[in-house]
Amino acid sequence: MSALGHPAWCATRPQSDKNSNRNAVLGYGCCMEKPTGPPASSWTSMARWACAASMAEGPRPFGAPGRLPNMQANSSFWPSLDAFRRLTSIIDAFADSGYALSGVIRKDSEETLWGEVPPNRSVFEENGVLYEVDVWHGHKTGFFLDQRPNRQRLRELARGKDVLDLFSYTGGFAVAAALGGAKSTRAVDAARKAVEACQRNYELNGLTAKVCSLSEGGIQHALHVQDCWEFLQKAARRRMKADIVVLDPPSMAPRASARPKALKAYETLNQGALRLLRPGGRLISCSCSSHITRQDLLNVVQAAAQDSGRKVRLEEEGGAGADHPVRRSFPEGAYLQVLHLMVE
Ligand SMILES: C[S@@+](CC[C@H](N)C(=O)[O-])C[C@H]1O[C@@H](n2cnc3c(N)ncnc32)[C@H](O)[C@@H]1O
Repeated sequence: MSALGHPAWCATRPQSDKNSNRNAVLGYGCCMEKPTGPPASSWTSMARWACAASMAEGPRPFGAPGRLPNMQANSSFWPSLDAFRRLTSIIDAFADSGYALSGVIRKDSEETLWGEVPPNRSVFEENGVLYEVDVWHGHKTGFFLDQRPNRQRLRELARGKDVLDLFSYTGGFAVAAALGGAKSTRAVDAARKAVEACQRNYELNGLTAKVCSLSEGGIQHALHVQDCWEFLQKAARRRMKADIVVLDPPSMAPRASARPKALKAYETLNQGALRLLRPGGRLISCSCSSHITRQDLLNVVQAAAQDSGRKVRLEEEGGAGADHPVRRSFPEGAYLQVLHLMVE
């Protein structure tokens, strides 16, 4: 139980480069769903994730491929000796790979299953950017950890550009772009709390952003609490232009039956985003829907380009980070599609 002595769930800015990977670990496990399957399978997938994390470099906050692990900790099952053994083996797996896990929580019942109780707001570092995270009430683990490499890529591309982050949540992409030297950033999300957290994330990184309406001009880093469909319509009427648009909507096809409706929704969103791009601009179009394939998203963007009279070229592609391995037996694990399209 070597992890027990090393509580480090709340990461702070690293003291030195040498220690940065270790210090930046967000070590809280989250349980999102009520237990459904047999205990062994969910625990096994979590242990696999721990192994995968140990092979990759850099901070690897807690997570699991595809869906987050069921902790099998309901009252009828917990604290059985079996469950306790499994929990300790996972804590040890983290410790053996150098990650000091300091707590495991169950989100639906708001219980701390092991270790320290996390506060509502804690700060961790991703690729040198500080972000606040609420592991209790935020989406998933409190942060969309799967997009880590794609946020880093945006940061590299952002210098001198006007960047629009649609479905921004707490501003993962927008803050990275601002730190990458974007001329301006604009983040839009319907959830007020997420936008307020986004504002704090700018501040954490020494930047200032303002929550405002679309009609306010002269703001370098603007934040909008707004439905993105509405925003796209208003922005088009105002002839707003951007050099880079990040489109990262929530999952729209969690079930196969939702596919047709989801494809139409993706097409409308991509069409709206393409209209705002200057010639030479870049659309970073994402889908985290497990029933939308890469080819689906390519088709959607192609149709959206035709509808909006734009020509697009696929420039590069991304996906979830290395800590989201895809099992052969579960191809849906490759759920995150990220296409970079250059617009003529
Ligand atoms: C996949 S998350 C975005 C993650 C974000 N790009 C990041 O890197 O952290 C989707 C976000 O869409 C927001 N959302 C859902 N429906 C929306 C809508 N109609 N308009 C605006 N935002 C919406 C949710 O509040 C959520 O924050």
